[in-house]
Amino acid sequence: MKDLYSVNQLEKEDIQKIFQLAKEYKERFLKGEKKFNDLRRCSILLVFFENSTRTRTSFELAGKILGADTINISASSSSVKKGETLYDTVKTLEALNSDFIVIRHNMSGAAKIVANSVKSHVVNAGDGTNEHPTQALLDGFTILEKKGSLEGLKIAIVGDILHSRVARSDIKLFKKLGAEVTLCGPMTMLPRHYEALGADYITTDIKEAVKNKDVVIFLRIQLERQDKPFFSTLREYSIKYGLNQELLKILKPDTVIMHPGPVNRGVEIQSELVYSSKSLILNQVENGLFIRMAVYKYLLS
Ligand code: CP
Repeated sequence: MKDLYSVNQLEKEDIQKIFQLAKEYKERFLKGEKKFNDLRRCSILLVFFENSTRTRTSFELAGKILGADTINISASSSSVKKGETLYDTVKTLEALNSDFIVIRHNMSGAAKIVANSVKSHVVNAGDGTNEHPTQALLDGFTILEKKGSLEGLKIAIVGDILHSRVARSDIKLFKKLGAEVTLCGPMTMLPRHYEALGADYITTDIKEAVKNKDVVIFLRIQLERQDKPFFSTLREYSIKYGLNQELLKILKPDTVIMHPGPVNRGVEIQSELVYSSKSLILNQVENGLFIRMAVYKYLLS
């Protein structure tokens, strides 16, 4: 496999191999091995046309730990500002003989277009509302660590499903690993044809959605992708769909809470619950590093 732009490219066996690599890297790293030579003499270009904290930093750190040289390119400081097209930008970057191009772009499908245009390995770090495959891998890996298996697990994804590339990738990956997926949100934030996303159930009733679930994933309200208001106020959204003390009482004792970040505190999750004992949010961030190391290694080999 040259590139990773969609979870569709991954068979269950690919996912398991990436998880195994990530597990091995994590164990070795936590035992004190802070430098590996697996990507020695490789170069990685991190091309981000949208803002990022977690994804960009972990892709960069993963590359450095594996011994690669990493270079950051952001749209605001590149010749994109002078009108250069995405195609010409990536062909220019390819001419620098980079081994990997990690790309985040606001256009759905951008990563696949780039992958089909260059010889470098291309990794999708989020393309519009389409996909965020490494987020799905790190989410699946985090659940696996906590629950031992995804087979038969009941997972709810709550919030702005319509605009969420994380939801699209998560659903595909969780289904491949045998989980049952329920989507929940206000009608205006739910896709009309949810079956096409591969989910099992859809509901606007948050209490019904989270009841008896092993994992509940809260999604960020993506105001930057909403050209019209999808909810009257954020306060109303938070009361009806956010995690608060009342909703907490409905969850099973062993239900875990996740969020891809960044969290709108007090909107999707009440502030004091963001890092509660049920929350795996920082585990997700930590595992993002090892999953991205594993993805580099997997594509290279
Ligand atoms: N989850 C995620 O993609 O976060 P960033 O936007 O900070 O990279």
